[in-house]
Amino acid sequence: IPVDCFDLVIFGATGDLARRKILPGLYRRWKEGQIPEGSQIVGAARSDLDADGFRELVRAALEEFLPKAELLPETVASFLGMLGYVTIDARGDAGWPELAGFMRAGMVRAFYFSVAPALFGDLAQRLKERGIADRDSRIVVEKPFGKNLSTARRLNESLASYFHEDQIYRIDHYLGKETVQNLMAVRFANILFEPLWNAQYIDHVQITVAETVGVGGRGEYYDTSGAIRDMVQNHMMQLLCLIAMEPPNCFEPDAMRDEKLKVIRALDPLAPAEVVRGQYRGKDGDDYLTEAGNPDSRTESFVAMKLHVSNWRWKGTPFYLRTGKRLRARTSEISVTFKEPPHSIFGESNQWRANMLVIRLQPDEGMDLRVMIKEPGPGGMRLKDVALDMSFAEALGDDLDIPDAYERLIMDVIRGNQTLFMRGDEVEAAWGWVDPVLEMMDERGDVPEPYEPGSTGPEGSMMLMHRDGRRWREIK
Ligand code: BG6
Repeated sequence: IPVDCFDLVIFGATGDLARRKILPGLYRRWKEGQIPEGSQIVGAARSDLDADGFRELVRAALEEFLPKAELLPETVASFLGMLGYVTIDARGDAGWPELAGFMRAGMVRAFYFSVAPALFGDLAQRLKERGIADRDSRIVVEKPFGKNLSTARRLNESLASYFHEDQIYRIDHYLGKETVQNLMAVRFANILFEPLWNAQYIDHVQITVAETVGVGGRGEYYDTSGAIRDMVQNHMMQLLCLIAMEPPNCFEPDAMRDEKLKVIRALDPLAPAEVVRGQYRGKDGDDYLTEAGNPDSRTESFVAMKLHVSNWRWKGTPFYLRTGKRLRARTSEISVTFKEPPHSIFGESNQWRANMLVIRLQPDEGMDLRVMIKEPGPGGMRLKDVALDMSFAEALGDDLDIPDAYERLIMDVIRGNQTLFMRGDEVEAAWGWVDPVLEMMDERGDVPEPYEPGSTGPEGSMMLMHRDGRRWREIK
């Protein structure tokens, strides 16, 4: 869907996210001809730069974060030509009149707050009071959207004093991932799965987001956050919602978000035995405490949980979630294990394997359905489970160019489509569920269980499954 001409202002334009994701994403959309000529991107930050200085910074970012083959000299030059810059003080007066001067009538206006959440309110207020933003303008905000329910509420309230909910785009970049959107296609564009998609036929669901990276240079931020805040409250919760939600009646923002919200509200509180936290502890600096710069840290770099969605569809089917840093491989996947057939006509000697649907989110995006077949041969009816395995790259062509999540999301902001963004009540409901988990950890003075860097997480995570007679899928 084509987009209209726009003025996009990026606050925090010299920061890591802007250099790594937002500006390279915009460049790629420009290269694909999706950004109309005449659009304008204005960087706004504290750094004392002029427009040329900013263009050089952006050129360097494109060179650092995009493959060389994508950097066509003429396309880069015309992209840089779209950029402007203003040195701005988010809490003062400097730069605001200049920013107002960039705004043109008749353009879609969007403001990307790629800054610390503590500044959201200041930016919103100045944009509104100085008449830079109007009723049609959009603002984009990044995580962390609060640290708990009360801070998230305060953020929502401060944004709501100046903007309507239909103007606020809260990013969860997982929703921009092609394979995450594919979850909805698999569920709601096929008749095959939905009739079985409930506790009567599904034994359990596993959601794994494993990373090989440690907290590295982000130790300071991460240590005040931990895996539950950093990954579970947002990305993992969104994945759970897409798997567990009822079919919305259409693919429209509120229809989708209403259904996701119902899932979050149906989550039972976690019991203490249903959560395991871990921390990677290794030698030679490959160690959470060293990277976090905090020898006493009790922050988790890994968490595994068993969740229950208490509604008619899911009562009795547990959802196991795990995510962690410095694990054996970078793998994100969702596996749905079905129940066994009620009766075996093939006799006891045959080994049953439950049907399983695995949706690989990254890397090697694809789907794998495990089914039972007859093993060829004259020796009677022997069964075997095999994979109907599909990799998207093979199925859709090797030159498949999967756009980065941010590319899709920024274009959706310009189109005015909020379907893949979180609504305020959704974020609050997610914090409302996470808060008691964090409090429980605090109360029991819980120290995360150590695990080796490059392993599959702490022993306790395995036990969480073994107790239920189940096991995690291998991280490989
Ligand atoms: C971010 C988290 O939101 O998501 C990071 O803050 C994490 O800690 C990242 O590494 C994972 O995203 P992706 O797209 O690499 O799976």
